[in-house]
Amino acid sequence: MESILNYDTVTLDDANSALVIIDQTLLPGEIKMLHLTKQQEIWEAIQVLRVRGAPAIGVAAAIGIYLAAKEIQADTYETFYQQFRAASDYLNSARPTAVNLSWALKRMEKVVLENKARSVAEIQSKLRCECETIWAEDIDVCRRLGENGLTLVKPGDGLLTHCNAGHLATVRYGTATAPIYLGHEKGYHFRVFCDETRPLLQGARLTSFELSSTGIDTTLICDNMAASVMKKGLVQAVFVGCDRVAANGDAANKIGTLGVAVLAKRYGIPFYVVAPSSTIDMETATGDEIVIEERDGEEICEMWYKKRMAPEGVKTWNPSFDVTDHDLITAIVTEWGIAHAPYKESLRDIFRKKEEA
Ligand code: MRU
Repeated sequence: MESILNYDTVTLDDANSALVIIDQTLLPGEIKMLHLTKQQEIWEAIQVLRVRGAPAIGVAAAIGIYLAAKEIQADTYETFYQQFRAASDYLNSARPTAVNLSWALKRMEKVVLENKARSVAEIQSKLRCECETIWAEDIDVCRRLGENGLTLVKPGDGLLTHCNAGHLATVRYGTATAPIYLGHEKGYHFRVFCDETRPLLQGARLTSFELSSTGIDTTLICDNMAASVMKKGLVQAVFVGCDRVAANGDAANKIGTLGVAVLAKRYGIPFYVVAPSSTIDMETATGDEIVIEERDGEEICEMWYKKRMAPEGVKTWNPSFDVTDHDLITAIVTEWGIAHAPYKESLRDIFRKKEEA
């Protein structure tokens, strides 16, 4: 089986002014690269999850806003900035929960604000460098998440993961999967259980695809089977990614993550959230403040089925994420170290470390 890891999740093709992504809505059946040149195409790709996963969304937005800025023809800085802001607000509206989207756009805006005195062409060139830096940093950050995460497990462990916080959610390696890939390289022989992750099946379509195509011992389970594999003693640790961690350690991730955390607590299994610092939002005090995306009920009633599997007109509720309370989280693994409760202090220490580096 060809490994999906040979394909870049998200890249810039500057010569053709395009954001290049794998269309993840077609996986695992078809590997199709998309070259997106229009802002509406980039917005749509984020909205319908052709590119998805918090870090990958951030990188896509950084490349997207660079491409928008490249097109701006303005005689003055003010006109340039106004159009840049409009393009940034537009991309930022594609999805609400993953903080990496606004994080990357703010980082790109900082470049514009700090270079007021320069020509538009110079600012555009600096924006290209910044989106390339964000892209390269993501690889380095994920590698370090892997090194830190690997210290928490041992060879032969059974690991469970939810949704896809893998290669396909980042530029490379993933966040929750980074310790798994690193352990695999080192001969750890993990046994990995992937929750299928209703309703969009990121666990089945993406995580089980990328892990098994790399030769990792991968077992796909339906979401409602997690309790049974835990009760049987087959899981020694849970690794999940996240879309936004609040300052108190509450962590928003794919719907169903909260249930996994509750089960892990019941069976005494450590529950680790793997979070690059770009996903930690110290301006959001608690999980109650995190905006949770709600999606079309059609995803529950019709999608993937040959025929509709719910009565016409039935009321639906389809939140895309839930918030795991910080007291269910054993530790938050970052690229700057591992944070434990109380998270208000330990996450501040993580950022202190980052600033001092
Ligand atoms: O709706 P998605 O597929 O974008 O949701 C993705 C997740 O919930 C991931 O676990 C999260 O973004 C972390 S990705 C490293």
